[in-house]
Amino acid sequence: MKKINVAIDGPAASGKSSISKNIADKLNFLYINTGLVYRSFAYLLKIHNYEINSSLVNKLKKHEIQLLKNEITLIDGKKEFENLRKEEIGILASKISSIIEIRKYAVKIQQKASSKGNVIMDGRDTTFRILPNAQVKIYLDSSSEIRANRRYLQLKGTKNESKYDDILKQIKTRDFRDKNREIDPLHISKDSIYIDSSNISIKEVEKIIYNLIKEAE
Ligand code: C5P
Repeated sequence: MKKINVAIDGPAASGKSSISKNIADKLNFLYINTGLVYRSFAYLLKIHNYEINSSLVNKLKKHEIQLLKNEITLIDGKKEFENLRKEEIGILASKISSIIEIRKYAVKIQQKASSKGNVIMDGRDTTFRILPNAQVKIYLDSSSEIRANRRYLQLKGTKNESKYDDILKQIKTRDFRDKNREIDPLHISKDSIYIDSSNISIKEVEKIIYNLIKEAE
């Protein structure tokens, strides 16, 4: 059967990752969360006290980042999960993701992880930069309030629990930065299918994307 690549772009907390994960499980595809590369960079920056300047990318290149199955991220051989999910790391990731050299390096790591095909990849530039030849391209959106509420419920009861108002503010800041950066800003690429999940359930969105993949096979 022909190999299929699926690229899903969209703003923070739009449901991309849970949808991608579930579809990947059903189809036995590899799910790649591309934001984890920027989050790994941010985490390295934080623990090593690296400054945000022109030599940052060279410092980051000294570390090894691998994206494996089941969202396992190996940073210099050590499995990281919770540390990468913190909001402060997401905000820092969004800040450094506007640096051109950082983006070029991230794209190399992301393309390497997807080189075998049959992948579902989500992020902000998957449809036009990382996987421009993907057979299925989606832009998944929903209102910032709904996204903030989803993230609030997701984090509730975990170590990373935060107030709804704080999450909403962070989401709006991140959206603005991701959509207005000079290089590869988040946008609806011309061959993407736009899905607004504000008024439909995640399960329904999953069904729509699953059917689009089946049609492309
Ligand atoms: O998706 P996630 O929230 O984990 O991404 C963290 C940050 O990494 C985003 O806010 C965005 O700035 C950046 N990112 C990106 N391109 C991607 C994935 C993430 O610029 N493909």
